[in-house]
Amino acid sequence: MGPSWAPVLLLTLGLHSLQARVPSDINPDFGERYFEQLLDHFNFERFGNKTFPQRFLVSDKFWDRAEGPIFFYTGNEGDVWSFANHSGFIVELAAQEAALLVFAEHRYYGKSLPFGKRSTQRGYMELLTVEQALADFAVLLQALQRDLGAQDAPTIAFGGSYGGMLSAYLRMKYPHLVVGALAASAPVIAAAGLGDPDQFFRDVTAAFESQSPKCAQGVRDAFQQIRDLFLQGDYDTVSREFSTCQPLSGPKDQTQLFVFTRNAFTVLAMMNYPYATDFMGHLPANPVKVGCNLLLSEAQRITGLRALAGLVYNASGTEPCYDIYQLYHSCADPTGCGSGPDAKAWDYQACTEISLTFASNNVTDMFPVLPFTEAQRQQYCQEAWGVWPRPDWLHTNFWGGDLKATSNIIFSNGDLDPWAGGGIQQNLSASVVAITIPGGAHHLDLRASHPEDPHSVVEARRLEAALIGKWVKAARHKQWLALRWGPR
Ligand SMILES: *[C@@H]1O[C@H](CO)[C@@H](O)[C@H](O)[C@H]1NC(C)=O
Ligand SMILES: *[C@@H]1O[C@H](CO)[C@@H](O)[C@H](O)[C@H]1NC(C)=O
Ligand SMILES: *[C@@H]1O[C@H](CO)[C@@H](O)[C@H](O)[C@H]1NC(C)=O
Ligand SMILES: *[C@@H]1O[C@H](CO)[C@@H](O)[C@H](O)[C@H]1NC(C)=O
Ligand SMILES: *[C@@H]1O[C@H](CO)[C@@H](O)[C@H](O)[C@H]1NC(C)=O
Repeated sequence: MGPSWAPVLLLTLGLHSLQARVPSDINPDFGERYFEQLLDHFNFERFGNKTFPQRFLVSDKFWDRAEGPIFFYTGNEGDVWSFANHSGFIVELAAQEAALLVFAEHRYYGKSLPFGKRSTQRGYMELLTVEQALADFAVLLQALQRDLGAQDAPTIAFGGSYGGMLSAYLRMKYPHLVVGALAASAPVIAAAGLGDPDQFFRDVTAAFESQSPKCAQGVRDAFQQIRDLFLQGDYDTVSREFSTCQPLSGPKDQTQLFVFTRNAFTVLAMMNYPYATDFMGHLPANPVKVGCNLLLSEAQRITGLRALAGLVYNASGTEPCYDIYQLYHSCADPTGCGSGPDAKAWDYQACTEISLTFASNNVTDMFPVLPFTEAQRQQYCQEAWGVWPRPDWLHTNFWGGDLKATSNIIFSNGDLDPWAGGGIQQNLSASVVAITIPGGAHHLDLRASHPEDPHSVVEARRLEAALIGKWVKAARHKQWLALRWGPR
């Protein structure tokens, strides 16, 4: 316990106000640092005390050392900068709450590579688990608190999507280190294999259906025409109208064309923000609407589908044709892994602990029948990585949706987001709460305030800020009581 803060605390309890307006373009001026992180938290012999450099970003620009909390973003499957750059709400809240800001990179992603460039090759992946990543966060957080003399600073975990799962898990596994978590668009139920396999693409379809039923029908028609042409052996027409770089032929190409195209819809639905963004590639405002307009403005349905896919695959306007095997890599996550080393690491996670066995069926969704069963996953993962998935483990270790026993976690979801249906959408207890954001896409609430924000997300952020403020205050109050009266 730091002896110095107690008097200051007395004065400030209850004084933190959330009213202050903070401009949405404040720059936290993050510093990029590396932490010597233990390679293996759970074994003592093989790697001993060997370490690797884990990257993290830190900003003390807003921090009140005496009384400010720590806001700790639990990094997910990518370069930590990409999350820091698109989580302006956390920065705004840090400015209001005088918090220290930390964005920690997840091992095996970005520059946090346990075995250097080889890390994402087969044979070097054994240290990539959810448990190791959480232990990294816990160890890093404790080291920072110690180095900064901030052992008592109440810490809030933040995260979006898989990062949101991690922020919730950090609270569940290390409740002595984090007093609460904001888990935005965190599909904790789906990823534990407890969801409905048809849910994801059904909800992608719903996003287009609610934009325009005519659009969804146009998509069905386009896929049907492609299927019919393939059945007739008229591959040339499909290749020409879809502008594929290689001539198509046979069922393998048909499946690749289907998953390539389906992925464009996934991206548009997830990134259906009310203003242009640069998160998963450059997209215009309301991309679902723009995509539908493109599709419906073409005389031919197949060329319409090509134009819609161009929003995702031809944002630069410089792709003369689609190299469908190059632009989309099938992997253990049917919602897409991306490409490059981060994609390989994510593929491995989807082959081990994270279950994403979503399928499309052309009945409850507008896509072709593209099954992805546990048996298919097993076969793929054996071939790709030589591993067997453990479909039940995440449920066993992180409780699935039965989260009543924890506390102080916000699960927020936008109702436009196809991931929402795989997350927590009901309040589970007084402090494990679900916030629904009507008109919101994938973790819209984490993004910086924007003039085009729907009222719903402004409200959601206000509620999140209030709850977080309350948790921080309660933690400080508890410390004060302990100091005054002794631990009880
Ligand atoms: C790591 O282990 C070696 C002995 O194998 C020891 O000399 C060294 O001090 C240890 N380093 C740390 C950081 O604990
Ligand atoms: C993050 O933002 C910085 C500053 O605007 C920029 O230089 C960098 O390329 C961005 N990185 C990512 C991964 O988005
Ligand atoms: C990509 O966009 C450019 C510019 O609009 C267009 O000329 C080209 O045909 C598009 N490529 C595909 C494959 O549709
Ligand atoms: C989807 O189902 C409809 C109705 O059974 C069928 O006509 C159509 O060809 C199917 N589309 C695809 C792409 O399989
Ligand atoms: C959960 O509780 C919060 C208040 O704590 C409320 O604003 C929210 O609407 C509730 N969510 C649901 C899904 O009922």
